[in-house]
Amino acid sequence: MDLPHTDPRWSDVDDYIVAHLIGEDPVLEACLAANAAAGLPPIDVSATQGRMLELLARAIQAKNILEIGTLGGYSTICLARSLSDEGRLVTLELEPDFAAVARENIERAGQGRRVEILVGEAIQSLTDIRKSDATPFDFVFIDADKQNYAAYLDHAVQLARPGAMLIFDNVVREGGIVDPQSDDPKVPGTRELYQALVNHPKVDATAVQTVGSKKWDGFLLAIVR
Ligand code: SAH
Ligand code: DHB
Ligand code: MG
Repeated sequence: MDLPHTDPRWSDVDDYIVAHLIGEDPVLEACLAANAAAGLPPIDVSATQGRMLELLARAIQAKNILEIGTLGGYSTICLARSLSDEGRLVTLELEPDFAAVARENIERAGQGRRVEILVGEAIQSLTDIRKSDATPFDFVFIDADKQNYAAYLDHAVQLARPGAMLIFDNVVREGGIVDPQSDDPKVPGTRELYQALVNHPKVDATAVQTVGSKKWDGFLLAIVR
């Protein structure tokens, strides 16, 4: 049986949640407007998801956050808000034009001082960070190209402290991960992530499906042992 892959109530419920639990956020709205004006794809995390990221990072008192996939900095701003004054966030973005939009959005959000954007292939930036004597990360949000998700897991585990939290976005893809007929090019990389996590020696993980303004998708949450 084919289930509907979207339902207008999903967005209505997101609006309801925002109205009650989050409220207006002129800074994040300006970020989305700037992204749209610059022609960035509208694939940022939603407002409810962004707040969830902020609260998860706050819950573990993250001081060093790594993000893979900046786009216009929407999720970056959410995560940076969880940080105390000494906190730092490094975010990796392939596209220089996207990074420039993000930089402006992050500055406007008052988070410029604690956020560093590294432009280039994330795998290269991760290799560079591993060669440096950077402080281990407490929290890693992975949201870039899905074909590299398994490689990002390896890097994240190496760069994170024991107890660190890793969150991967887009791990359900409207059910594509269990659909043998799926022609979504992002599905194989996502499956490789799950495969890499079967009896993984260093992380405990789960994934939670979500519906909302971003349709049917999900987050994978892992803790480094
Ligand atoms: N986290 C953002 C959305 C990220 S969209 C938010 O929620 O606001 C995914 C981003 O990953 C895009 O900006 C894309 O350019 C970037 N990306 C794709 N492949 C990449 C790669 N190989 N290295 C670094 N960034 C990459
Ligand atoms: C896409 C990427 C994302 O990170 C996302 O959250 C939604 C869609 C995409 O590339 O289609
Ligand atoms: Mg995403």
